[in-house]
Amino acid sequence: MIVGVCVDLRRENIVVTGGAGFLGKALQTEFARVGVPAERIQVPRRRDYDLTREGDVARMFEDMQPTVIIHLAAEVGGIGANRENPGRFFYANMAMGLHLIERARTSGVRKFVQVGTVCAYPKVTPVPFKEEDLWNGYPEETNAPYGVAKKALLVMLQAYRRQYGLNGIYLLPANLYGPHDNFDLESSHVIPALIRKCYEAKQRGDQSVEVWGSGDVSREFLYVDDCARGIVLAAQHYEGPGPVNLGTGHEVTIRDLAGRIRELVGYQGELTWDSSRPDGQPKRCLDTSKALELFAFKAETALDEGLRRTIEWMSPRLLESDHGD
Ligand SMILES: NC(=O)c1ccc[n+]([C@@H]2O[C@H](COP(=O)([O-])OP(=O)(O)OC[C@H]3O[C@@H](n4cnc5c(N)ncnc54)[C@H](OP(=O)(O)O)[C@@H]3O)[C@@H](O)[C@H]2O)c1
Repeated sequence: MIVGVCVDLRRENIVVTGGAGFLGKALQTEFARVGVPAERIQVPRRRDYDLTREGDVARMFEDMQPTVIIHLAAEVGGIGANRENPGRFFYANMAMGLHLIERARTSGVRKFVQVGTVCAYPKVTPVPFKEEDLWNGYPEETNAPYGVAKKALLVMLQAYRRQYGLNGIYLLPANLYGPHDNFDLESSHVIPALIRKCYEAKQRGDQSVEVWGSGDVSREFLYVDDCARGIVLAAQHYEGPGPVNLGTGHEVTIRDLAGRIRELVGYQGELTWDSSRPDGQPKRCLDTSKALELFAFKAETALDEGLRRTIEWMSPRLLESDHGD
């Protein structure tokens, strides 16, 4: 139950790192929806401030004078991108968090919201994943460098809370999907990749589409606008040291997901499975009770509805990129 507003975001200087990205765009829309004036929000772009560099982080703090930081900036991608860039993903995600949290401490920031990832959970975790299980094993190997770097920031925030009183909170969103997602097949996540493959196969009249992996693993998908709502609720109402999951509490196998996307895109061909490709973590589904209890967050968008909106957003863009080729 929510006791009251802890932080009135309308009065803070909010910096959203990564605010121009996929989740960042949805977060800006959510801020507007809850009445946070646009002039209260600043988004440092990578071209102006490379947040992996300590000097750029210091300059960003001097220029923007944040009182609340929502740290979304990250180098992220699907299984392929994680396999190609394990060193880079570890370094970039670690360095950004390290410099930002330290500078938040020395500048007396009122609240630091770190967005972590479900990839931080151990490879084999009892379903649904409870926050208490976060340290009960090593993450799935392909995304461990990314997941562990982000998880280290949880330890940093907890240590800074104890020693310096920095008010840092830590959220663990499930896999996200929705409009403005990256649909470049080299680096995209599974939903935009499947939509693109089915859409293009339909345009070309292909007989079949090949999908990575066995299809038997399960995932949980959170619609990006729901995630943004959860972040804003937590920024307003949650002040604790413990990590909190943001999800739907529902899992779907990749096979079922691909079938639903095929249907929604209207592709009549067959789906074939390339089992030589990695599956990633065997199961993923979050226990969402803490978010409900601590800051009244509950996801609202059903998977089919979210997929429909995502396809609606992607289709004209895919058509455009097709004509551009
Ligand atoms: N997507 C998911 O399924 C998912 C799931 C769970 C958690 N998350 C977390 O949610 C957050 C946002 O993810 P997203 O999918 O929205 O990612 P995204 O679209 O790739 O956006 C990431 C943003 O980070 C910024 N960035 C990257 N490197 C930077 C650097 N060195 N300096 C400054 N800015 C930098 C980029 O800014 P520019 O635009 O200026 O280049 C970009 O807009 C991440 O922390 C991620 O771990 C995502």
